[in-house]
Amino acid sequence: MPETTLTYVEQELTMDGVPLAEIARSVGTPVYIYSLRRILAQLERLRAAFTPLQPAFHYSLKANGNSAIIRALVGAGCGCDAVSAGEIFLARRAGCPPERIVFAGVGKTRAEIRYALETGIGWLNVENAAELRRLEALAAELGHRPRAALRINPALQAETHRHIATGHAGSKFGIPLVEARMLLEHRGDYPHVEIAGLHMHIGSQLGRPDESAAAARLAVELAREFQLKHLNLGGGFPVAYEGGHAVPVEDFAAALVPVLAKQGMKVAFEPGRFLVAEAGVLVAEVQYVKRGGRTVVLDTGMNDLLRPALYEARHPLLPLRVGEAAARPVQVVGPICESADVIHPAAVLPPLAEGDLVAIGVAGAYGMSMASNYNARPRPAEVLVEEGAWRVIRARETFEDLIRYEPKGQ
Ligand code: LLP
Repeated sequence: MPETTLTYVEQELTMDGVPLAEIARSVGTPVYIYSLRRILAQLERLRAAFTPLQPAFHYSLKANGNSAIIRALVGAGCGCDAVSAGEIFLARRAGCPPERIVFAGVGKTRAEIRYALETGIGWLNVENAAELRRLEALAAELGHRPRAALRINPALQAETHRHIATGHAGSKFGIPLVEARMLLEHRGDYPHVEIAGLHMHIGSQLGRPDESAAAARLAVELAREFQLKHLNLGGGFPVAYEGGHAVPVEDFAAALVPVLAKQGMKVAFEPGRFLVAEAGVLVAEVQYVKRGGRTVVLDTGMNDLLRPALYEARHPLLPLRVGEAAARPVQVVGPICESADVIHPAAVLPPLAEGDLVAIGVAGAYGMSMASNYNARPRPAEVLVEEGAWRVIRARETFEDLIRYEPKGQ
């Protein structure tokens, strides 16, 4: 059952009882606001759905790398899925024990692998044969024997946006099954790497539990053939964007549990979006209403939330205060000098005026983590709502931050 995080109380939009306008007035706009309660509730829902497997959950930091959020999820028992040395650093700093960190990614540099080995992380997900050789050499040099999983590419086209499908044959991700089999047959050639599992992630915002189950079946077969005991099935559990329907995570569990139960394997997942997307909003202020009321210009755009421009994602828009006026479609745009900077081509909203506040919903995942300083705009503040109170978990950037890494006096 969908959780409710946002509700109108006396016509004012609130998050877990806190009026969003109160935060916006105090911190300014644009501001990302997250509900801690909702994040933890999402984790509980995942755990409940997959109870028969008792899987490990590694929070995929790329969805939202704020330390307060990582710390909360680690505190609730999650490990961390990192895709760069920077994310390993974030995970460690937020208190994640090294053995619960998994390092994935198609382009691990020597320096990143060295950092991962020196940190003593739990797993490296290896994405190609050359990476395995590189890992073997570095592990030998450092006198380590890290655990690795081979990331297999099951050559399946997942039903999702083409930019976030990763498991098809033409994708840059993972190792084709034939090649993985060959590497496993010759795993003795890599004495400093303990190849103990398989990893797979066929895409994000997935739409078909049967495809996930088919991919898992391939992984189980290969794992059994080589007596591998660990299966990491990646992330991808979907959330509902505007007016959207997302396949419930319970349906994914219903398809996956029969494939995985009784195989005697340890299963892990790497959810990102599912844990944090619906817990977050981006609150912005209306700057102008133009074209006879047909276009609303906000003080936030693709610099803060890239998803609409990059994936034509449609995030719900909610006014912070509602009146009696009827809603109608308006184009909602950002201030960036790009035609692609359209937050929504036709959001159904009541008439808005300069100074009104709106919340862009389902923005907790891949919002702030993909934000940039394009057009020299400082990145927004981030706020966490927790037990009826709120606190800033990242300050708004300043103009000084824009030139921080340039030499002084330039
Ligand atoms: N594991 C691996 C290996 C991944 O590549 C990803 C996401 C995840 C886990 C987490 O997937 P999730 O549970 O969040 O679906 N920026 C895009 C999404 C990119 C996802 C990249 N990989 C968006 O805003 O939709």
